[in-house]
This record gives sequence, structure tokens and C-alpha cells, in this order.
Amino acid sequence: MCGIVGSVGFKNTKDYIINGLKDLDYRGYDSAGLAFMEGKNINLYKAVGPVSNLEKIIPSLKQNPYLGVGHTRWATHGKPSETNCHPHQSMHGLFTIVHNGVIENFLELKTKLQSKGFKFVSDTDTEVIANLLEDKYFENRNIIKAIEDTMGELSGSFAVVIIADIDNKHLYFMKRHSPLMIGRGEDFSLVASDASPMIRYTDKYIDLDDETYGFISASDVEIYKDKHPIKFEYTPKSPDLTVKDLNGYPHYMLKEIEEIERVVRRLMVEYYDKGEFVFDNNLMNQLHQSDHIIFVACGTSYHASLVGARYFDMLGKSTSTYIASEFAYYPKFPGRKPFFIFLSQSGETADVIHCMNIVKEHDIPCLVLTNKKGSSLERGCDYSLLLYAGLEVSVASTKAYAAQVCVLALLANAYSNRKEVIKDLEECCGVIADIDHNLKDKVYEIATQLKDAKDIYFLGRGFDYDMSLEASLKLKEITYIHSEAVAGGELKHGPIALIEQDTPVIVTISDNVTASSMRNNIQEVKARGAKVFTFVTNPLSNEHDTIVVKSHKRYLSPVVMSSLAFYFAYYVAVLNNREVDKPRNLAKSVTVE
Ligand code: AGP
Ligand code: GLU
Repeated sequence: MCGIVGSVGFKNTKDYIINGLKDLDYRGYDSAGLAFMEGKNINLYKAVGPVSNLEKIIPSLKQNPYLGVGHTRWATHGKPSETNCHPHQSMHGLFTIVHNGVIENFLELKTKLQSKGFKFVSDTDTEVIANLLEDKYFENRNIIKAIEDTMGELSGSFAVVIIADIDNKHLYFMKRHSPLMIGRGEDFSLVASDASPMIRYTDKYIDLDDETYGFISASDVEIYKDKHPIKFEYTPKSPDLTVKDLNGYPHYMLKEIEEIERVVRRLMVEYYDKGEFVFDNNLMNQLHQSDHIIFVACGTSYHASLVGARYFDMLGKSTSTYIASEFAYYPKFPGRKPFFIFLSQSGETADVIHCMNIVKEHDIPCLVLTNKKGSSLERGCDYSLLLYAGLEVSVASTKAYAAQVCVLALLANAYSNRKEVIKDLEECCGVIADIDHNLKDKVYEIATQLKDAKDIYFLGRGFDYDMSLEASLKLKEITYIHSEAVAGGELKHGPIALIEQDTPVIVTISDNVTASSMRNNIQEVKARGAKVFTFVTNPLSNEHDTIVVKSHKRYLSPVVMSSLAFYFAYYVAVLNNREVDKPRNLAKSVTVE
């Protein structure tokens, strides 16, 4: 899931690469490295950890390097170390490359190359690409031909940017599945995993298709596919791209939680205008005609899809929900006319893209809810609905989850032409504002009590269970405290064995249908010594409840109650001095399977 940047002819190569890597570090931050062409020499700089560590070791340069590449890594093959840090070089130094993706047949290729005398220094799959390029180059002494031959032997996913030792005027590239974009300026060319590093300098982009390869120079771009140069068009800058800015907040996560209300309001404007819903007619027809809706997503997006499935179930539609990586291996197409809904904040999650490709092979219509216009899922699906959440920087998704649930609520209400949803969302905004202004300090108090807990359990039923799953994921992601979400009724079927004296249990009650059963669950865990905290919606509350939230429609409670849960996870992480926005081992965009 690494991030790649490169430039040719740019006036300040070092700044572009360092700042670009910082823009891309949501894709991984195990290590960062870069290579500059300085005169005729290719110099490599590498450091374990975030880009700031790399920045510290770069000396002041005598001259601006004419070209360079950089990489921020999320390790798939080989532990995070300087040796495994990109860029990697071929054995004789002819090719210096950065890579995003996974080479599935790397062991087989490595053995073959070793038998030809190639020596390897790292444990990465990437080094195989560098040596394979060199091996192929020795056969024909032609760089483009070497790239074609290399692509022919690689299986898996890759976006690769290449410096060729014998050519100090071009950067070469090749792409399959992993994203790669080119940006063109007056007298320079840029390349990056997404547009964010380039938006300050250009508004002309090419979003590369799979199986393309070629080169960029200061004055030109040449793209090939199937051994022929292809025509391409530049697309203008997407208005949705914004530069990262903390705006005075200590962490992006806090800023993004506090943006939830604004995001909900924006969605009301985007999807409802002049008293009518604004959804594509064909999409609505497809939804009506379908006899089964299948939701597929990962992580937080999967949790939002559970809520969405409930919305359509309540309208009498039959639905299924799958974790993408499970669906990919055991695909199912229930019903005579199935319709797929993918959810992906980034639009680049490899597991979800895999499922989309399976669904398309079966010619089944699909929709994606995504925050990224122009992302692989947005381009690949028949329909897309944008989340309009703005750039989400924190690895832990918050406002995008709220946006996903709201878009699903709007879509389900549009499906049944129930316009009251706008009033309901308006009310929901008021409740979120009340949490932001009046309740978050109470959440902070609970966080101070629980910051040293070994395990924290979340209990809920129905919508509150869906939300508890998300609350628990958020907590473990950024605090590293073990946590589980348990459906209230399941407690006695096993998990209650884990409850002992002072075990923290956070119970959410926002649903009148399940409220009294949840009150029974509270008694059951209390009887085993649990320390119970309750997040309850009025009018279901009593004087013993810990946090009481203003009344709102129960179907929107995942949006409201998750705000409390996000604050809770955030405060516990801060109190434990965690790297809130960049939790260990994670990356924002999971572009490997
Ligand atoms: C969210 O906090 C997580 N970092 C993660 O579960 C994420 O939701 C998941 O990787 C899916 O990402 P996507 O929405 O970009 O597809
Ligand atoms: N497979 C490469 C590595 O481990 C790239 C990883 C990635 O793109 O996530 O270094």
C-alpha cells in the first residue's frame, strides 16, 4: 500500500519528493526512501519510520537533482528495515525502482534469477522486479522492451517507477492494479500514487490504466499498452482535492470527528434539492428491479454496510452483507436479479476491487459509495455516490463512516420516497452539535477512568450492535487496547465468561425495541462485577446512565452514537500518548490483498 512520487525537470526535486511523501504517508509509514539523480550518480537515502526521519538524513544538495523518486512503505514482504526500504536497485545498478503492490510469483522468479547469478540483498518482492528488468535489459538493450518482458512475467499488482542508470532524462513506469497518476507542468512531469502531492504544481493529470507502461520527461509523456504507444487525454484537477491542513487541531482525527455535522449537512444538500431526492434515475430503477442487494466492504466501511443492509431489510428488500476478502473466495449471487453495493472511503481497497471485478465478470450491476472521485472503484462501478466528506487524513476513519451511513439513509429513504429523512438528518445534526459542545467532556472523563484497561467490551443490539462493532474497531486501532463488541443476546452464549470484577463494559441503548433487553444485559454483567458505562438516547434514559444523548430517530443512531465512540477512542489514545493519526501497523488505504 506504499506511496510513490517522482519528478523530472522539476525546479525543486527534494521538496516535491519529501512533501509528496508526507501527503502520501496515509498509504504506509514503515519506512521512507528516495533516490536522486545527482549529475550522473544515483544517490539513495533511506530511513525506517515516518518521512520526517528521512528528511533528517538528507544532506543539503549542491544542485537540484534533475530527477528523483520517493517511496513511503507499508511492508508486505520483509520487515520494516533500512535494507527492505525502497528504492531498490538491480544487482548491477542499472535500474533503481519504487514499487507499490505485491508480486505473487516473486519466490519463483527469485529462484530463477538466483540460478542466473543474481544476488539479492533484501527480503522484498520488489527487488525481484529490479533484477528481472536488468535481466531482460541484458537480452535486448532496450528499456521499453525490458519493461514489456518484465510485465509479461510478473503476476500480482504493481505500480512501479523506474530510474534507468543509462538514461538521466526520463523516468519510466509500469502499472497493473495499483494506482498511478502522471501530472504535467510547463517544463516538468510528475508521477505519484494519487494527485495529492501534485495538486500544488499542476492541474493536468493522467490516471493510468492497467497494463500501461512508458516514460515521462520534462517535456513529454509517452504511454504504451500491448506494445504500442496509445493516445491519452489529460483530465483537469478534481475540485475535491484539498491540501492537508490541521487548522489548529492537535490531530486530524479530532478535526475529522468535529467535521461530522458539516458533512451530514453537505450530504443533505448534495442528495436533496428543491423538495426532491437527487439520485440517478437508472440507479433507482435498478434498485427497484433487483430482488437482492449485496453489500461488500472492509473494516469500518463494512460496519457502515451492516447499517445499510438493515435500512433495506426494513423496507422489505432482501439483503446480504459480506466482508470483501471473504466474498472474493466464496462469491455468491443470491436472487434472480442481484444488485451490488460496495462501500469504500478510499475507493482503492484491493479486496473490494477484487470483488468488483468478480461481479463485473458476471455482468451484475453495481454501485459504490466512495469519498474519492476518480478512484478505481468509482471508475469501475456502474454507479457511484460520493461521500462528500472531504479529505480524511487520520488512518482511523470517522467522518467517512458517518457519511456512508447518511448516504445509505438518504438512498433507502429515496427508494421509499420518504422525504422526512431530511428533517431526521437535521435533528441528527443538532444532536451531534450537542455532543461536540456539551458531552465530549464527559466522554473524556470516562476515558481517564479507562485509559489503563486491559480489555473493553461494547454491548448493543440492532443498530446499537452495528455501531458497537465500529466503536470497538476504532478503540483497538488507535489505542491497542483489546476490545470486542458483543450483541446483547449473545452474551450468555459465551462472552459473559470473560466478565470479571471491574471489567469495563460500554453499553449503548438508542433503540426502544431492544432497550429493555439491554437493561437486562446490564444486570447480568453487573452481577459478574463489570464496571458498566451507558450511552443512552433520551427518552430511554434513567438517572443512573453515564451519558444521555438528545432524542433522535433510531435509524440514525449509528451516526450519533458513533460520535461518542470516536471521541472515546480518541481520548483514550491521547491519554496513552499513542500516534493517534498513524496507528502502528496500519495504513489509510489498503491497496494490497
Ligand atoms: C478504518 O478506521 C480502518 N482504518 C479500516 O478498517 C478501513 O475502514 C478499511 O481498510 C476500508 O477502507 P476503505 O473504506 O477505504 O475501503
Ligand atoms: N511489496 C512491497 C514491499 O513489501 C510493496 C508493498 C506495498 O505496496 O504495500 O515493500
